[in-house]
Amino acid sequence: KRVAMLLSGGGSNMVALVDSMTGDHPARPCLVLSNDPQAGGLVRAAERGVPTAAVDHRPFKGDRAAFEAELMKPLLEAEPDIICLAGFMRVLTAGFVAQWQGRMLNIHPSLLPKYKGLHTHARALEAGDGEHGCTVHEVTPALDDGPILGQARVAILPGDTPEDLAARVLVQEHRLYPAVLRRFAAGDHSPIFLT
Ligand code: GRF
Repeated sequence: KRVAMLLSGGGSNMVALVDSMTGDHPARPCLVLSNDPQAGGLVRAAERGVPTAAVDHRPFKGDRAAFEAELMKPLLEAEPDIICLAGFMRVLTAGFVAQWQGRMLNIHPSLLPKYKGLHTHARALEAGDGEHGCTVHEVTPALDDGPILGQARVAILPGDTPEDLAARVLVQEHRLYPAVLRRFAAGDHSPIFLT
């Protein structure tokens, strides 16, 4: 299976995924694509010998469809079987999602369905939750809303700042996403819950 990864920043989730796709793993990375030509993840992908591409979203301003039409070009060229959104910070239109639905995953830093959208760690702290975590789900047109493929939990500790919590969750993201991808690439879509 060929896996394309989309990212906007440092790409720590992409690194975890790429580094997991070895040996008898049913998938291999075929592309790392960013909406930011300066994304640090592009350098880390290139260091690992993974083809990269970037389509800067800023010239397209609010014209999401035009941006996505450009994004499709390197994607179609790479012919992925699976797309992993890995710290990709642009909302995708229903039209784009429809072309990849069933083959596109996302990781979100909360225990969905709680805290869809942004600032999830601060919101969990604000709510006084005792635990938090991350979710890998199939991407559907509704934001952070598709079938759950996996979750990992962390404790919220007294005195935690949003940054403390984000760092603790990120460690679990790097465990969860590779575990889910391996199963998904093997055709097993049953959800996993890591402790
Ligand atoms: C992190 O906040 C992570 O929780 C979310 O995307 C952000 C950047 O991740 N998934 P990465 O280091 O670029 O993979």
